[in-house]
Amino acid sequence: MRRFRYDHLVAKMKKVPNAFSPVIAVDRKIAKPLHRQLYDSYRAMIVGRGLRAGQQIPSTRVLAIELGISRIPVLTAYAQLLAEGYFEARAGAGTFVCSSLPDQWKSSDRISNDSAAIRSGARAPSKRAMLLAPYERLPWLRGMGAFNAGQPAIDQFPFQPWSRMVMRHCRSPHAREMYYGGPLGFEGLRKAICTYLRTARAVRCDPQQVMIVAGSQQALEIAARVLLDARSAAWVEEPGYWLTRQVLTAAGCRLLPIPVDNEGLDVAFGVKKYRKAKAAFVAPSHQYPLGATMSASRRLQLLDWAQSSGSWVIEDDYDSEYRYGNMPIASLQGLDHNSRVIYIGTFSKTLFPSLRLGYVVIPEDLVDRFAAVRYAMDIGPPHFFQAVLTDFMNEGHFARHIRRMRQLYALRRSALVDGLQREFGSALEIHGSEAGMHLAVILPRGFRDQEVAARAAREKLWLWPLSPAYLGETRRQGFILGFGNTSAEEMPKAVRQLKRVLFGEKNLSGKATGYKGIS
Ligand SMILES: Cc1ncc(COP(=O)(O)O)c(C=O)c1O
Repeated sequence: MRRFRYDHLVAKMKKVPNAFSPVIAVDRKIAKPLHRQLYDSYRAMIVGRGLRAGQQIPSTRVLAIELGISRIPVLTAYAQLLAEGYFEARAGAGTFVCSSLPDQWKSSDRISNDSAAIRSGARAPSKRAMLLAPYERLPWLRGMGAFNAGQPAIDQFPFQPWSRMVMRHCRSPHAREMYYGGPLGFEGLRKAICTYLRTARAVRCDPQQVMIVAGSQQALEIAARVLLDARSAAWVEEPGYWLTRQVLTAAGCRLLPIPVDNEGLDVAFGVKKYRKAKAAFVAPSHQYPLGATMSASRRLQLLDWAQSSGSWVIEDDYDSEYRYGNMPIASLQGLDHNSRVIYIGTFSKTLFPSLRLGYVVIPEDLVDRFAAVRYAMDIGPPHFFQAVLTDFMNEGHFARHIRRMRQLYALRRSALVDGLQREFGSALEIHGSEAGMHLAVILPRGFRDQEVAARAAREKLWLWPLSPAYLGETRRQGFILGFGNTSAEEMPKAVRQLKRVLFGEKNLSGKATGYKGIS
């Protein structure tokens, strides 16, 4: 296998300038002297904030070479800019834009012109873009710590083997890791994922059906583009995962909310009301947010419906790796004998979410369509971390990490449940099977979950409100409580903090809120 050796290139690169060259044009044909042209260009860029305070600029030697002029006018211009305080020289480091530029330079004509154009209002984006509500940086999405949903135990991540593998691929990568790859992704990783899915999730697949994607989110997007048109009707869980809805909304689909109970999606409801839907988007292993595991009879009903109505099931096998207390449950895809299921998985919870790696298992006859859509989208996922992850899986670290985390999260979950029962008794309704990295609680009457969550965020307690997970008017007030990133020892304190946020320091009986007391 060909590997790059680039030590000699690194040695050469030490001489390569480390500052970007600004867009400066000089014209020998005009009367204005070159040093004046350079001075004016730099000054204009600094005042216009194209160059920012503290930013490094190229040396006189480099700039002279790049502009194809003698070094003398460059030295003259730089001397003038230094003398006037636009530039500062740092011994041994180079020349920089002065780090203490006067305040009046911080707002510029360019910016106020842009603002005027924005205010004129004649800049409507596409109708498609306007299908989505504006992106909001909600207070409870900001922090790290208890009870932020979707945060695995990063401090438990096996950094040693991971960094060893990262270094291995940095030092001497395979040539194919550095070039364009195919839209399905890195073959070695597809093989490793297949082995894992066949064994641990009873998924029926071959590597040529597996596509590596940038997390489940991209898988949902590609599936929607391949299978659905604008106005296509799709079942979504009610309450459900908001980003699935965003994908379908952006695709112009009709979203049909199907209620979820403790057996998962109410398939009979869907069949009765919306039989002709084109697809169903479900998370059967551990429903988000209520945490139910779909029962066997509902799974079979769903597959029957998909087959008889020619519809697709998109299985988001979210959180499936973590089941505590009972036997693992096989995937829906593994039960399907009609290739109606598109199976989606992610490394966001088993490894870490910023890795942005996930996978789709595609029915054989659709692989080419998925590949074509993917190729038109972003060509393919970056290969570097795919190669690292391949080694990580093949050398057994992935399986070991999941096994360790399963024990850890089981402890964290039971510490949370114990704490909730101790502090709130039966006043908080707890939802969710013994699985995954979150559970849901329903608040007593009188509480507004988003208001409490905003208040809690000010105290660095990250409560995801439940009510926005509903599409319809009937919305239960509660929280999605993540327990992945809080140790069992810290959990009682976090639960007491939750109680304080809900009832206030002096009002733990909750009278003012309509809460009937803690049993
Ligand atoms: C239902 C559901 N699916 C998938 C994911 C993971 O998404 P991604 O793989 O894009 O990080 C989440 C994350 O919280 C989720 O709640």
